[in-house]
Amino acid sequence: MTIQWFPGHMAKARREVTEKLKLVDVIFELVDARIPVSSSNPMLEEIIHQKKRVIILNKADMADEKVTQAWIRHFKEKGLIAVAVNSQQGKNMHAIEKAAEALMAEKFARLRERGMRPRAIRAMILGIPNVGKSTLINRLAKKNIAKTGNKPGVTKAQQWIKVGKALELLDTPGILWPKFEDQEVGYKLALTGAIKDDLLNMEDIAGFGLTFIHTHYPNQFQQWNQVASKSDTGAEWLKEIAERKGFLDRYGEADYGRAAELVVREIRTQKVGRLSFDFPEKEEMKHAENVDC
Ligand code: G4P
Repeated sequence: MTIQWFPGHMAKARREVTEKLKLVDVIFELVDARIPVSSSNPMLEEIIHQKKRVIILNKADMADEKVTQAWIRHFKEKGLIAVAVNSQQGKNMHAIEKAAEALMAEKFARLRERGMRPRAIRAMILGIPNVGKSTLINRLAKKNIAKTGNKPGVTKAQQWIKVGKALELLDTPGILWPKFEDQEVGYKLALTGAIKDDLLNMEDIAGFGLTFIHTHYPNQFQQWNQVASKSDTGAEWLKEIAERKGFLDRYGEADYGRAAELVVREIRTQKVGRLSFDFPEKEEMKHAENVDC
């Protein structure tokens, strides 16, 4: 689902999220592991206030493993828990429950000290469209959906999903908007399939992708395109690809548009391999190891 966001939509989305926030102890902020910053909501911290959150780096199977590891380290240094998962194949799901337990450990220990038995942790998923919210919910749900409409503070029937022993997940996610003001963020969202193609110029998206991959993943770039190294702008590469593939317009000139479509499709479908488009600070990249997802 791709939504075009207008101020009215944003206000409504925010209201809906604020309502649901009252029901939960923990937020699962779902982002795309390839672009953890670009796929986050610009106002998330303001919207969730002090609510505890786990950052879930989804689609880790498509991201550069070393960069994902560096992101986890980056968030840890900021005092945040991040976990990398692949919701499509159900990889590393247990890490989500573990992270939620870690966040609530102190509070629950205090309850125990006062002789109370802690209840299940209640959580909800928040994220921009297409980041994998439904896939994750379905993956976690299996068949454990329970209707628990009469909990205090629940005005209309909410479905909760039991996840393991310690966790209950709200069955509908909160949908928030991406950061669309920044053009580079827009390109990254388009390259990862988070926003519709027709919102941005295809040749610009492809040009950005080619330049980015050439700069950050030179070996993968060469293997993928086999373009002559003398070219070094998006437009030149597109021309070269169009001519090599025989994509010509009715005047026999290179069809940049078709070449751009091919480039974007191949980046999205991992013909270039696993890529990340947001990087943390250089320092944090140094000790990065692979994460298996
Ligand atoms: P949403 O609720 O946040 O809007 O996202 P949704 O679950 O619908 O997922 C969007 C697309 O991302 C889906 O692809 C889904 O299969 C894919 N996806 C979700 N999690 C993962 C993951 O961990 N790894 C990979 N590789 N893909 C994941 P789709 O149904 O094919 O949609 P589309 O490709 O037509 O956009």
